[in-house]
Amino acid sequence: MSIRQKLFHRFGSRKKDPNWPGLIEAYKAWLPVSESTPIITLKEGATPLLEAKAVSKRVGRNIKVFLKYDGLNPTGSFKDRGMTMAISKAKEAGCKAVICASTGNTSASAAAYARRGGMRAFVLIPDGYVAQGKLAQALIYGAEVLAIKGNFDEALEIVNEISNQYPITLVNSVNPFRLEGQKTAAFEIIDSLGNAPDWLCIPMGNAGNISAYWMGFQEYFKAGKSNKLPKMMGFQASGSAPLVNNTIIKNPETIATAIRIGNPVNREKAVNAKNKSNGSFLDVTDEEIIKAYKILGSEEGIFCEPASAASVAGLLKTKQDIPSNSKVVCVLTGNGLKDPDCALKNNEALFHSNLEPNMKTIAQVMGF
Ligand code: F0G
Repeated sequence: MSIRQKLFHRFGSRKKDPNWPGLIEAYKAWLPVSESTPIITLKEGATPLLEAKAVSKRVGRNIKVFLKYDGLNPTGSFKDRGMTMAISKAKEAGCKAVICASTGNTSASAAAYARRGGMRAFVLIPDGYVAQGKLAQALIYGAEVLAIKGNFDEALEIVNEISNQYPITLVNSVNPFRLEGQKTAAFEIIDSLGNAPDWLCIPMGNAGNISAYWMGFQEYFKAGKSNKLPKMMGFQASGSAPLVNNTIIKNPETIATAIRIGNPVNREKAVNAKNKSNGSFLDVTDEEIIKAYKILGSEEGIFCEPASAASVAGLLKTKQDIPSNSKVVCVLTGNGLKDPDCALKNNEALFHSNLEPNMKTIAQVMGF
């Protein structure tokens, strides 16, 4: 292996490349696009894979934990990977408008890419259950927001029907191009590590992302880019765990509103990924999610949203099952800034307020 190749495996050659073209251009050969596909991009992808020393230490036994920080995509979540594909293909097909149901991130991403591509974006959201940052994004990107007195699952049924009856493209993860785009995160992990990890820990909502990762890992494996496949470890919030309990949940509840989903559409694909990879599904409580969320913030310097912290919460809960010396990747799906309320309510920071504006007071409060 040449020095250049070694460096590529160690650091991922494109990670810091200012000319990164976006993931469709970068992984064209692996995606269903042609010369005539108009590429709608915000230069998504190439997100960092960070070593997590504090989490690794908690896991112990020389197990190395990495975080795939997909909250650093253009709209702050992994959805951009799927949306660049779904919107480019919709544009190629001459579509003028797109629609989705969303717990927030899909709506932000759909709105950004659709508007960039000159299309209308309709988004159905569960009223009162979308984090503030995500709603702000949908509005500023120019989406037409339809808030329903119902949950995500009900919203998804409606958009499914609408897209069947009217000329509008559905961009939820039932749209196959979404998963095609999202599989590139698995490519990036292998490009970075030089092989697949032993475990992949990922939060599950509608279960599109776990299915996309599995697709990506398999494709690279078949092409000889890795010599193993990871165990796919999918985590759900305890109050919203239809896959863990193999059921449908009528009224899902969790602090992690992004994954507040009771009837995931990609159920079969996710179960297949779990079974074929010898993986597992497990639930984590809201308390466990918040604990991991705080560890990531205060010990790793990484602010992710609560749903994303479910991957680390799950890892910490199952750490005894991981063989020593393994490599584990936890996917951090969304940026913490999306849900500032959650951070303001759940932190252990010292916040001294109402202080007199002079040096003496400040120094005293600081303990000098
Ligand atoms: N993490 C975050 C931050 C999400 O927004 C989602 C899903 C997931 C994990 C779960 O991914 O559905 O592919 O299993 N959010 C969707 C939305 C449902 O509408 O933004 P999944």
